[in-house]
Amino acid sequence: MKRKLLALVLAAGKGTRFKSDKIKVLHPMLGKPMIHLVVDCVFTLKPETVYVVVGYQKDEVMQEKYSKPVEFIHQKKQLGTAHAVLAAKKILQSHKQKDLLVINGDLTLIRPETLKSMIKLHQKGCHAMTFLSAEMENPTGFGRVTYQANGLIRIIEEKDATPTQRRIKEANVGIYLFKIDSLLKALPKISNKNVKGEFYLTDIIEVMSKGDGSVGVYKAPIEQEIVGINDRYELAKAIEVLRQRKIMSLAASGVTIYDPSTTWIDLDVKIGRDTVIYPSVVLEGKTKIGQGCQLYPFIHLIDSRIGQGAKILTSTMIEESTVGRGAQIGPFTHLRPMSIVKAGAKVGNFVEMKNTVFGKGSKAGHLSYLGDSDIKDNVNIGAGTITCNYDGKKKYKTIIEEGAFIGSGTELVAPVKIGKDSYVGAGSTITKNVSSGALAVSRTKQTEKPGWGKKKRKK
Ligand code: UD1
Ligand code: CA
Repeated sequence: MKRKLLALVLAAGKGTRFKSDKIKVLHPMLGKPMIHLVVDCVFTLKPETVYVVVGYQKDEVMQEKYSKPVEFIHQKKQLGTAHAVLAAKKILQSHKQKDLLVINGDLTLIRPETLKSMIKLHQKGCHAMTFLSAEMENPTGFGRVTYQANGLIRIIEEKDATPTQRRIKEANVGIYLFKIDSLLKALPKISNKNVKGEFYLTDIIEVMSKGDGSVGVYKAPIEQEIVGINDRYELAKAIEVLRQRKIMSLAASGVTIYDPSTTWIDLDVKIGRDTVIYPSVVLEGKTKIGQGCQLYPFIHLIDSRIGQGAKILTSTMIEESTVGRGAQIGPFTHLRPMSIVKAGAKVGNFVEMKNTVFGKGSKAGHLSYLGDSDIKDNVNIGAGTITCNYDGKKKYKTIIEEGAFIGSGTELVAPVKIGKDSYVGAGSTITKNVSSGALAVSRTKQTEKPGWGKKKRKK
């Protein structure tokens, strides 16, 4: 019979080998802190409740926004993985007839399919507990699994292992399923007589294989899923696995990625079909890209939305901004937070924009700064236009109405409003509003001194 499932994620340890001020499980992997990857994977098993054991930097771990609500259990001192499970004793006592999945908070590459098969084996075999093991090319850092003739199974932690035991390739992954009533009986039998002086959850395997109830071993079919991320080099290797998985899944959904080896796409990024991505593109956070877009080399997008058919040209950065359908941005454009470039607009070479709405079909082709502006449709911004939005204390707004034409080399001193279909002469410094349909010019009249140059050269 299928037993109901609870899950316990162990995340109270500091992760000393990371040499970080931040707890290990909050280090991000392609935009997501490690703990989220584990919690999200566990949720796919549809447990009644997911508990997270917290201790070191518990407030930070508890403040995270999880995809679904989780409950927290406080392990006041981190005395080992068995001690962490013991912190949940009170809760477990009222769920004795259920199963408990225990998973280390750093097992971020494990796939739901593997856990589902493990649960099947556990429940079919009616085991008191089942643990996940893996044959590994290099099991350094993992506990090794040993089998004795009398049926005893023992995990030997690397620090406690003899050189011969260290040569064993079968490793304990750090994922366990228990019948909760059996777990509660066995937990008090664990001691801390080992090199680290910790209460090892792994010792429960020996306790249980001695007692009544059988111990199941599920061998992980794919070694690539098994990483205990203990230091930052292991983190880098694990991120590489996730990165490739993400690119493979996008490719399968109809996205062309010319050079997977130089393309970085965060896990939450969404991309529509027939979009083409050139080499050396970085897409971060909750970026969403429509269908049929083209992203040229050296583009960096953070938390931005790109509409269908838009073209983003070389060396462009876009942060927390929106680009409309069919718009063209770049090369060398910087859209800073809260910029909205509407459909069909063009923003080009060395243009910086911040907190600005840029209307449909409007153009800013060259060397401009547009900040705190509301620019309506079909406006032309000449080369070298600058909105002077800051007086050293406050920011002011520039409004440019539909169809206006701003000549090159213009300064628009905000607050200022440029009327509909008006013109601003090149080289103007505009300090007053311009009426609709008018021409505004503000520059000194050109004068000429005949022969002046010739005279100067003779001296
Ligand atoms: C553990 C296993 C080892 C296995 C390896 C797989 C034990 C004793 N050993 O070793 O057999 O091969 O994982 O990666 O379990 N934690 C707490 N409270 C504590 C101690 C740890 O919550 O008091 C949490 C940590 O935050 C971590 C997890 O438990 O998420 C595992 O702890 P860690 O110290 O990484 O165990 P390993 O030495 O890697
Ligand atoms: Ca570990």
